[in-house]
Amino acid sequence: MNMNVKDELLKRLFEAQGEPISGQEFADEFGLSRTAIWKYIKEFEEDGYEIASIRKKGYVLIASPDRVNSANIQKHLQTKTYGRTIDYHASCGSTQNIAHDAAQAGAPDGTLIVSEEQTAGKGRLSRPWNSAAQKGIWMSLIVRPSLMPQQAPQMTLVAAVAIVRAIENVAGIEATIKWPNDILLHGKKMTGILTELQSEPDRIKAIILGIGMNVNQDEEDFPEELQEIATSLKIACGKQIDRAKLIAEILGFIELYTSMYEKHGFGPIKLLWESYSNTAGKRIRAVMLNETIEGTALGISEEGLLELRLDDGSVRGIYSADIFIKE
Ligand code: BTN
Repeated sequence: MNMNVKDELLKRLFEAQGEPISGQEFADEFGLSRTAIWKYIKEFEEDGYEIASIRKKGYVLIASPDRVNSANIQKHLQTKTYGRTIDYHASCGSTQNIAHDAAQAGAPDGTLIVSEEQTAGKGRLSRPWNSAAQKGIWMSLIVRPSLMPQQAPQMTLVAAVAIVRAIENVAGIEATIKWPNDILLHGKKMTGILTELQSEPDRIKAIILGIGMNVNQDEEDFPEELQEIATSLKIACGKQIDRAKLIAEILGFIELYTSMYEKHGFGPIKLLWESYSNTAGKRIRAVMLNETIEGTALGISEEGLLELRLDDGSVRGIYSADIFIKE
């Protein structure tokens, strides 16, 4: 099956805004039979689209399901590059793994892998990531920025700021960032970011930005063990959110802030990040692989490290840890 033609057909149905698309003309344009087009239409219907077939005129899109496919995302997209190539899955193991393979195979800058559900979603330190069907955003963005490999971890902070701005625009509420990779609403985790790198010693080949967002879950949709610590955008703002629109908005802000980072360094991102962070000035326990330390969070360094003032007055920069804020 040629996915590009199928995507193009769906895009045309959207763009026609209720007007019919001629199956014959579309078939001629792409050198296909009318039956091939009819088969695509049947597949769309199986996916939940409502399509009317009008004799002698063609196909009309009546209603589309709540899906994060390329047509639904791209109709909101205002980026130059990010999200212009989308690989959509109804279900997959992990978008992160698919993105790694795609990046190795040369997928262009800004390629997005997105899935309605993941059966083996992974979080930081290979922890399992709950990714229920149609409820959240489970996506991995392949970016190839002009940065040095040591600047890659800061892309987590770039993505975090972008996500907070996008949530503000789409849902009208302000989230906070918990270093390094959590977005919180009312103190509970709503989004996690997993940044992975494909690199040569002096050159980034690709960064895979894995983003998992709880969007339209109700409380009972979370397994019991997560209910105390996780929340969704819908729970926090009280309304169902258009996931495709939110994705388009996130891609727009990631593109904007990545280019800001490339051109002007980390300074402007650091300022934005600190304005949304819930950690500065708080007493923190940082649990790392080999040690646990406590101190007062000062902010982040130019390298994206969390700076803690320890009780003996010294300052420690932390690369990676689980952070617990002590009230
Ligand atoms: C974390 O907070 O531990 C990071 C969670 C990242 C989850 C996302 S969902 C999309 C992408 N695919 C994965 O398997 N993981 C990331």
